[in-house]
Amino acid sequence: MTDLLERLRTAVGDAHVLTEPADVAAYVVDWTGVHEGRALAVVRPGSTAEVAAVVRACAETRTPVVPQGGNTGLVGGGVPDASGTAVVLSLGRMRSVRDVDPVAGTITVDAGVVLADVQAAAEQAGRLFPMSLGSEGSCTIGGNLATNAGGTAVLRYGMTRELVLGLEVVLPDGRVWDGLRGLRKDNTGYDLTQLFVGSEGTLGVITGAILRLFPATPRHATAWVAVPSVGAAVSLLGTAQQHGGVHLSTFEIANRQAIDLVLAHLPGAVDPLAEPSDWYVLVELAGSASDEGLDTTLEALLGEAVDAGTATDAAIAGSPAQRSALWSLREGISEVQKVEGATLKHDVTLPIADLADWTEAMGPRLQEVLPGVRPVTYGHVGDGNLHYNLNAPVGRDDDLRAAAGDLTAAIYDAVAAAHGSISAEHGLGRTKAAAAAAYKSDVEVDLMRAVKQALDPAGLMNPGAVVPPA
Ligand code: FAD
Ligand code: MLT
Ligand code: ZN
Repeated sequence: MTDLLERLRTAVGDAHVLTEPADVAAYVVDWTGVHEGRALAVVRPGSTAEVAAVVRACAETRTPVVPQGGNTGLVGGGVPDASGTAVVLSLGRMRSVRDVDPVAGTITVDAGVVLADVQAAAEQAGRLFPMSLGSEGSCTIGGNLATNAGGTAVLRYGMTRELVLGLEVVLPDGRVWDGLRGLRKDNTGYDLTQLFVGSEGTLGVITGAILRLFPATPRHATAWVAVPSVGAAVSLLGTAQQHGGVHLSTFEIANRQAIDLVLAHLPGAVDPLAEPSDWYVLVELAGSASDEGLDTTLEALLGEAVDAGTATDAAIAGSPAQRSALWSLREGISEVQKVEGATLKHDVTLPIADLADWTEAMGPRLQEVLPGVRPVTYGHVGDGNLHYNLNAPVGRDDDLRAAAGDLTAAIYDAVAAAHGSISAEHGLGRTKAAAAAAYKSDVEVDLMRAVKQALDPAGLMNPGAVVPPA
């Protein structure tokens, strides 16, 4: 171990190898506070060559490596297990924007660049990097790629894997794969870039990426809409698609329980509507400077929805400040759920046609398992993705923890019965790797193990994450 620490210090400099408990603390517990482990050391390389030297030293001493970006992941994949044997490799010092090419529509960045800084660099060049998450002020592009993150713009622009053209990756043996080609067309064999996207640090360390840029969308028309049910929200989605066309960029849902928490705990949050509703939708159209009719289109589609009974009321943002107030009602939910006590997160996708029946059936089913449990349901309904999160019955956090296995099984079984997915956008991490085996076919699990074995035969890259244990 002394030998390893010496090699790490030589590779990155003494100041960037952390071993004191106070220095390491922030790297071994995740954003939720639920996933916590121990580390042999935290290493903070400043370049691709330094990452390669760290990974090589770990490979030669058979030391597990846990790559970490902004540590905002929600499934325990970015923090080590309790053994204390792993090195946490933080990309936090690799923050350079390497190149922006507005005409080619590309931006090339270090993996440790914070998502909001990628967005800002694109904006400075008069372009849009569309990925948008509530965690964008902290999460890194390397983490976004490693988790194939989704967020609130997937409806229009797709998941992270649709926004990347090439990667630079340090492989588990310390070699560097330079795949930073910005080519739209490159059919020269297996798509290695896509193999690393969504691999959650189990196949290598992403150190750089070339990403796609889009035309800027400075015009927005945004509404907060009361809808009577999930079924009504799905009908409204159809209306919004028909009227909004390519401009429809956001279609998010939240139940009243979620909004009650935001109104109670988020400073400055105000309900923009006079009457409470069981469900709400945040809908946004976005366009270029010449797209002048977005407000009219939004009003027309909402008018049609009210006539059809799929919407009961709506507040339309009249200024950028009002727009951000409406957005904060949706984006504030994750944060306030933590304030309210113990939570259980489920990030599921269902076929859109099944969302209404599935949600109707799930409420009563969960009350049978734990009477008083509070579903805080929200998410990216335009993608069929619900965050079917649960809060404990008031003042009974221990009861939620005791019933967690049964509650999760009830939800996942119902998701599987509807041919959905038990992880829509957050990944499997350490918390869902075992569950994935139960809901995937044997063939799929075998293929996952074969890929892992081929790239990381010693099993040192983020062990315990993603790949179901044998
Ligand atoms: P980390 O948490 O540090 O790591 C996540 C995983 O990626 C780990 O397995 C880690 O080992 C691996 N990893 C990190 N960097 C690298 C790298 N350079 N190379 C290889 N592996 C790496 N997610 C969504 O998809 N949609 C949302 O809408 C969304 N909203 C969120 C809102 C809030 C308030 C919070 C706290 C989280 C939210 N998330 C969301 C989850 C999270 O922000 C994403 O998963 C994000 O992509 C993680 O990025 P990170 O840099 O924080 O990664
Ligand atoms: C979000 O969309 O806000 C997050 O992905 C959900 C969560 O924090 O559970
Ligand atoms: Zn989400």
